[in-house]
Amino acid sequence: MIAIVGASGNTGGVVAGKLLDAGEKIRVIGRNAGRLEPLTQRGAEAFVADVTDAAALAKAFEGAEAVYAMVPPNISAPDVPAYQAQVSDALTAALKQAGVPKAVVLSSVGADKPGKTGPVTGIHHLEEKLNGVAGLAAVYLRAGYFMENLLPQIGAVRHFGVVAGVLRADLPLPMIATRDIGAAAAELLLAPGFTGKQARELLGQRDVSYAEIASLIGTAVGKPGLRYQKVPAMMLRPAMKQAGMSGSMADGLLEMSEALNSGYMVALEPRSESNTTPTSIETFIAEEFVPRFQAR
Ligand SMILES: NC(=O)c1ccc[n+]([C@@H]2O[C@H](COP(=O)([O-])OP(=O)(O)OC[C@H]3O[C@@H](n4cnc5c(N)ncnc54)[C@H](OP(=O)(O)O)[C@@H]3O)[C@@H](O)[C@H]2O)c1
Repeated sequence: MIAIVGASGNTGGVVAGKLLDAGEKIRVIGRNAGRLEPLTQRGAEAFVADVTDAAALAKAFEGAEAVYAMVPPNISAPDVPAYQAQVSDALTAALKQAGVPKAVVLSSVGADKPGKTGPVTGIHHLEEKLNGVAGLAAVYLRAGYFMENLLPQIGAVRHFGVVAGVLRADLPLPMIATRDIGAAAAELLLAPGFTGKQARELLGQRDVSYAEIASLIGTAVGKPGLRYQKVPAMMLRPAMKQAGMSGSMADGLLEMSEALNSGYMVALEPRSESNTTPTSIETFIAEEFVPRFQAR
């Protein structure tokens, strides 16, 4: 049996689907049974637990030969680092207590750095804690910048006719579709075995800048010449709060953006066949961005 944290989410949903396709027995974990139903209807066992609850997680992991683990985002947490520390403590204790032999852990490019990377610092600490769990084989999948981060731009394109953000227009970003992360994680979980603790980067199909993205979105939604506008952090903060983020989350994301802009937070691996994934930015825009843009 393979247990999946965040099974109703972007990456966890793909992991669960792929494992069910392969005929695996899976236990899907989330806070809400209703949101897990599409998976239970396909034969998954649902386990309702909160990732901050170590005892509940240990039960959820009981008997698992492998676990897909992550720190689910909590954008409204008043203290995001404290929330992340609570989750990484609970995941570590539960994996230890249940004696899980193998884990695939969602991490991020930049998780090698000990600080100044916003929410990625919390994932760095998760990796460090798991490194201390004897007998656990773990792969930390250090994924690039999610293409899904572009979806909140729908409002900016619609209402202001721009793509806007705090990242440099020309910054090359290893952008990845979450479906490709889920597929890579499922492949590892189905593989005969890996040993030790290792970090592997997943860098998307190619590097892409916000300037290029704005141009591609413009063409795809019938707004040729759509531009990217870099805005000062001060201007974006109110919009982040309006989107439901706590001050702590907004500050963390702005710190992460600084780390990306300065080149401090950057992929370590040269691009290769093994860290390159199939979904292009053009495919993501056509299949995910445009339908949502048109549905609004
Ligand atoms: N955005 C990026 O560019 C980027 C890049 C690299 C890495 N990452 C990392 O990717 C991760 C997010 O992955 P994702 O997009 O697959 O996540 P997601 O789509 O936000 O899904 C999170 C899942 O966790 C569940 N969940 C939320 N809070 C929970 C709680 N307290 N207890 C139990 N379950 C909970 C949610 O289901 P319920 O609500 O039903 O419980 C949901 O299924 C984060 O760790 C982030 O740091 C992000």
